[in-house]
Amino acid sequence: MDILKKIEMYREEEEKLRWEGSFADYLQLLKEKPWVAQSAHSRVYNMIKDAGIEEENGTKRYKFFCNQLFGLEEALERLVEEYFHPAAKRLDVRKRILLLMGPVSGGKSTLVTMLKRGLESYSHSDRGSIFAIKGCPMHEDPLHLIPHHLRTDFQEDYGIRIEGNLSPLNMMRLEQEYAGRIEDVLVERIFFSEDKRTGIGTFSPSDPKSQDIADLTGSIDFSTIAEFGSESDPRAYRFDGELNKANRGMMEFQEMLKCDEKFLWHLLSLTQEGNFKAGRFALISADELIVAHTNETEYRSFISNKKNEALHSRIIVMPIPYNLKVSQEERIYEKMINESDVSDVHIAPHTLRVAAMFTILTRLKEPKKGDIDLVKKMRLYDGENVEGFNSADVDELKKEYPDEGMSGIDPRYVINRISSTIIRKEVPSINALDVLRSLKDGLDQHPSITNDLRERYMNYISSARKEYDNIAKNEVQKAFVYSYEESAKTLMNNYLDNVEAYCNKSKLRDPLTGEEINPDEKLMRSIEEQIGISENAKKAFREEILIRISAFARKGKRFDYNSHDRLREAIQKKLFADLKDVVKITTSSKTPDEQQLKKINEVVARLIDEHGYNSTSANELLRYVGSLLNR
Ligand SMILES: Nc1ncnc2c1ncn2[C@@H]1O[C@H](COP(=O)(O)OP(=O)(O)OP(=O)(O)O)[C@@H](O)[C@H]1O
Ligand SMILES: [Mg+2]
Repeated sequence: MDILKKIEMYREEEEKLRWEGSFADYLQLLKEKPWVAQSAHSRVYNMIKDAGIEEENGTKRYKFFCNQLFGLEEALERLVEEYFHPAAKRLDVRKRILLLMGPVSGGKSTLVTMLKRGLESYSHSDRGSIFAIKGCPMHEDPLHLIPHHLRTDFQEDYGIRIEGNLSPLNMMRLEQEYAGRIEDVLVERIFFSEDKRTGIGTFSPSDPKSQDIADLTGSIDFSTIAEFGSESDPRAYRFDGELNKANRGMMEFQEMLKCDEKFLWHLLSLTQEGNFKAGRFALISADELIVAHTNETEYRSFISNKKNEALHSRIIVMPIPYNLKVSQEERIYEKMINESDVSDVHIAPHTLRVAAMFTILTRLKEPKKGDIDLVKKMRLYDGENVEGFNSADVDELKKEYPDEGMSGIDPRYVINRISSTIIRKEVPSINALDVLRSLKDGLDQHPSITNDLRERYMNYISSARKEYDNIAKNEVQKAFVYSYEESAKTLMNNYLDNVEAYCNKSKLRDPLTGEEINPDEKLMRSIEEQIGISENAKKAFREEILIRISAFARKGKRFDYNSHDRLREAIQKKLFADLKDVVKITTSSKTPDEQQLKKINEVVARLIDEHGYNSTSANELLRYVGSLLNR
């Protein structure tokens, strides 16, 4: 559709949503839709809830966050369940400042931006609609018009609790424009918009000497004092500070802990009583979510300062650690690359995954249990099967370090290294080795890394490289077999037939001649030896497999190539062992003969068609694997 047409449609849509009426009309509307009177915190919570919640292995997944923030399920669950949910129920936490604490580039700003954009679009929906006294610069809640002594009656009637006092400006307007007739006061539907400064504000501190508290709470409009005669006339005051503008919605407080103290003290009363002081007026009620973010070092130094004690209890700290799952980290890179100018460069398969492995290793802490290394821990965290461990072990590992993920390499660093690889390499195609090399070079230039840390990180690069070597070898060997899956399946079925005959002490039938033959001991052993099963252990292994097969059958499931990890490994190794020489000779020959050339072309074509390579990356892969096999 034409963009102009879309713009027009959007305008029409907005037009349709507009609503204006008297306070009396608004009360009528409240009868039908009591939720429009909800508090700011409750609106944020419902916005998250309405987007949908899924539950996976006991962890909640909020759809609201899930296409922008990856691998933060646990932190988000805590944030929603320990802050937004109770705050929506008007519990005391709602009055506190929400402080997101996490390492650099860990997604804090992304999270805040999502809440802002989310509120903007939620306020256009029926469930998120919101109304205000017309013409009020603070979009004041119309229910503030109801005098205190009538509020209990109102609550009985409407089931809605009213909090907060009518602001001085609207008090005056009520008298002067409406002659005190509350029912006539005009009410309108508002739509949150950061650009228009409606319900969404951002405060970022600048030079403390020049910055004025007015940025936060508004200021006297000197040009109109003469007209109204007094500084305490609310008409001579501009309610245009960020706290004013963010009323009913949310305010982001950037670099809060770097901020001058006088700004923080202003928040004290807001966080205690839900109101703040502006100019020479009585306290002004505000209903808004205040979010700030910081890193751990900054936070520690803030709380170690005695002067800040009163503020501690007014802040609720929510950790936003780094993601600790390789596959999620890969998604973060994909997202960041798609948002960049290099999105058209070919990135060979496994490149981002290998980079992510390195990154995650830098974030993990060494397991205390002796029998598990960091690479295994990384796999377990990502939900992979690791022989000898189960999900209970994963929980135990997580409990060892509740504050894991607060340090390590950040995603932006990796993306910068990937970008510089792309720029340095002439062909528009990069692979895992290019990126690992670049990450390594980058460590030398990294200003904030100590020698010890650099050495550790170098080891992680080697670990990631080792993982890549295996992946690369597998990929090429698979591509060498015409229809790898098919061959593996055939070999496995053949093995299973023989195992069955062996265990039942029966015979097999030769498919060609129909003759009865003995189980093929040589074939079975050649597979079992691949995973180190000794002559003495073979019987037990074969019987165990048969038991597994019948267990599968009982549950009505098919036992297949992927049902038994060790058997699959054995089959794969057997296939590769048979191939090893061919692969080795073909990939490393400097002057391949005609047949080898044909094979190489075939494999390259398969890598391109079935595995997502391009011709540059496929040839690079073959050459690399050739060199690996010849070591
Ligand atoms: N868990 C994550 N899921 C998705 N994207 C992420 C995640 N962590 C970081 N990012 C991406 O990394 C980049 C940096 O994130 P962001 O700016 O939100 O971090 P921050 O915590 O605000 O960092 P800083 O402390 O430097 O302000 C963004 O492009 C963001 O999308
Ligand atoms: Mg940020």
